[in-house]
Amino acid sequence: MHIPVLTEELMKLLDPKENENFIDCTLGNGGHATLILERTAPKGKLLGIDWDEASIKTAAASLKSSGLSSRAALVQDNFANMQEIAAREKFHRIHGILFDLGFSTSQMETTKRGFSFQKDGPLDMRYSSTNPVTAEKIVNYQSRPELERILKIYGEERFWRQIAGRIIQERSSRQITRTRQLVSIIESAVPKRFLGGRIHAATRTFQALRIATNNELENLEKGLEAAHAVASAGGRIAVISFHSLEDRIVKRFFNTTSSLTPITRKPVMASLREVRGNPKARSAKLRVAVKS
Ligand SMILES: C[S@@+](CC[C@H](N)C(=O)[O-])C[C@H]1O[C@@H](n2cnc3c(N)ncnc32)[C@H](O)[C@@H]1O
Repeated sequence: MHIPVLTEELMKLLDPKENENFIDCTLGNGGHATLILERTAPKGKLLGIDWDEASIKTAAASLKSSGLSSRAALVQDNFANMQEIAAREKFHRIHGILFDLGFSTSQMETTKRGFSFQKDGPLDMRYSSTNPVTAEKIVNYQSRPELERILKIYGEERFWRQIAGRIIQERSSRQITRTRQLVSIIESAVPKRFLGGRIHAATRTFQALRIATNNELENLEKGLEAAHAVASAGGRIAVISFHSLEDRIVKRFFNTTSSLTPITRKPVMASLREVRGNPKARSAKLRVAVKS
C-alpha cells in the first residue's frame, strides 16, 4: 500500500478547513484525499482525478470504507484536462488543488505495469491503458537521436550515448519486451566500475522512459495552467515533486505567474524521521502558491 508523503507539512500549507472544496489531481490510493476530506467535513467536497483505472478503484474502496465517499467525485482522466473535468463535474469554489506527482507504490509493485527494474515485467510503464504509447514502443521504434535525448534530458543519465547505442544494437536482432532484458542491456552498456553503487544503474533509464511514455513534463505544465485557471481567489496550489525536472517547472510557474504568490520560499522536504519510515519521501519536494 502506498504511504502518502509529507502529510503534516502538506496539511499545514494547504490548510483544508470545514466545508471547503479541493481537487486532488493525483488521487493514487486516496491517502492525501482522506486527510483532506476529514478536515473539510461536514460539507466540503473533493474532486479526485487519476489517470490510472486501478488507482481510482483502490481509492474509491478506501474512501468508502472510511465513510467519506459521499463527498467525493472520482474521475479517471489526465489532470492536463482538469479545466474540462471541473466544468463537467460542476465543481466550483475551489480552495485548494494538490498534485503528488509520479507513481504510487502499488503501481511500482505491480509487476505487469513494468515500472520496476527489480521485477521482470512487460515494458509498459503507462499510468493509463488509454495511452497509446508504451515504453516498449519507445525502446524499439524511437530514432537514435530521440532515444538519446530521452535518456540525457529526462533521465539525466551520464551514459546516455552508450545505453542508447546498446539498445539500438540489441533491437536490430530481437524485440526488447521485458524489463529484465532492458536491465541487462543497461548493465552491459555502463562501465563496470559504475555498477553495484547505491543507485542502481537502471534507475535513470527507467525514470526517463516513464517520463517519456506518459508525457509527464508536458502534462505537468498543462495541469499547472489548468489549476491556476480553476482555483478561486485565495485558493492554494500544492505540488509534491520527486525529481529536479518537475521541481524546476513548478518553481518557474509559481515565480512567473503574476497572480500566484509562492508561500514556500524553498521547497519543503521530508524530515529524517519520515524518510526512515518511508525511503520514497527522501526525494519529495513540496511547493505551495496562493492565487490572488
Ligand atoms: C504518488 S501517486 C499519488 C498518491 C496519493 N497522493 C496518495 O496519497 O495515495 C501519483 C498518482 O498520480 C497519477 N498520475 C500520474 N500522472 C497523472 C496525470 N497526468 N493525470 C492524472 N493522474 C496522474 C498516477 O497514476 C498515480 O496514481
